Amino acid sequence: MIRIEDVSKRYPGGHDALKGLSLQVDKGEMVFVTGHSGAGKSTLLRLIALIDRPTNGQVIVDGQNTSRVSRRKIPGYRRQIGMVFQDHKLLYDRPVFDNVALPLVIAGIGHRDAARKVRAALDQVSLLDKEKQFPETLSSGEQQRVGIARAIVSRPKLLIADEPTGNLDPDLSLEVMRIFRRFNEVGVTLLIASHDIALIDQLGCRRIALANGALQVEEEEDVVAEYAERLESEQERENWPQ
Ligand SMILES: Nc1ncnc2c1ncn2[C@@H]1O[C@H](COP(=O)(O)OP(=O)(O)O)[C@@H](O)[C@H]1O
Ligand SMILES: [Mg+2]
Repeated sequence: MIRIEDVSKRYPGGHDALKGLSLQVDKGEMVFVTGHSGAGKSTLLRLIALIDRPTNGQVIVDGQNTSRVSRRKIPGYRRQIGMVFQDHKLLYDRPVFDNVALPLVIAGIGHRDAARKVRAALDQVSLLDKEKQFPETLSSGEQQRVGIARAIVSRPKLLIADEPTGNLDPDLSLEVMRIFRRFNEVGVTLLIASHDIALIDQLGCRRIALANGALQVEEEEDVVAEYAERLESEQERENWPQ
């Protein structure tokens, strides 16, 4: 579903946020991107969402090479990707219903069809009874669920989320992850940036660790260390007289 091939991103000013990064996320996977603040997680998600372009390398999403998606075609491209942000990015002067309907309105979908889709999305995040409320009357967890409903209202094949539980306590975080897991179970591919390692381990999902804009090599070092240890103990065993 996502192929990142030797991608680099240099921001104006010369900072290299990504350095020759390659990775792949298969259709139907639920994968986490972890890493310290500044590791390049948000940059990676922005390139996938075509909010920004790589300096070098290829970003291929569902068989489409994003470098060939022209400016004019970006809105159509984004319609197949759901995006969830840490700070919700809700419209606070609009009720929940309008917030979730926004992508459908932009896509020019008729009112009746849109209303049906909005209610289906709100149902999936258990907020059907709040459609007339304004975001600020909702809890932080509920606001995040409105953001999730908006992200999935167009039934995207791919959902990307940038630290979606960054502002939530552990119980609410788990609830959000359970919602994501349910989407995953019906075939949505998810790529989620998070540094909540405990939560990720609890879910048992694959983890891609970034450090300074590249894949973290620590795991590889662990494997080597483990191998060396095993060799040593085998040698010790051999040295023992039988
Ligand atoms: N628009 C920008 N202009 C310049 N530098 C940026 C910009 N966005 C991010 N960076 C820098 O790129 C690096 C990676 O940032 P980011 O992708 O946001 O990391 P993360 O999401 O893992 O915290 C950081 O050092 C950050 O300061
Ligand atoms: Mg970030």
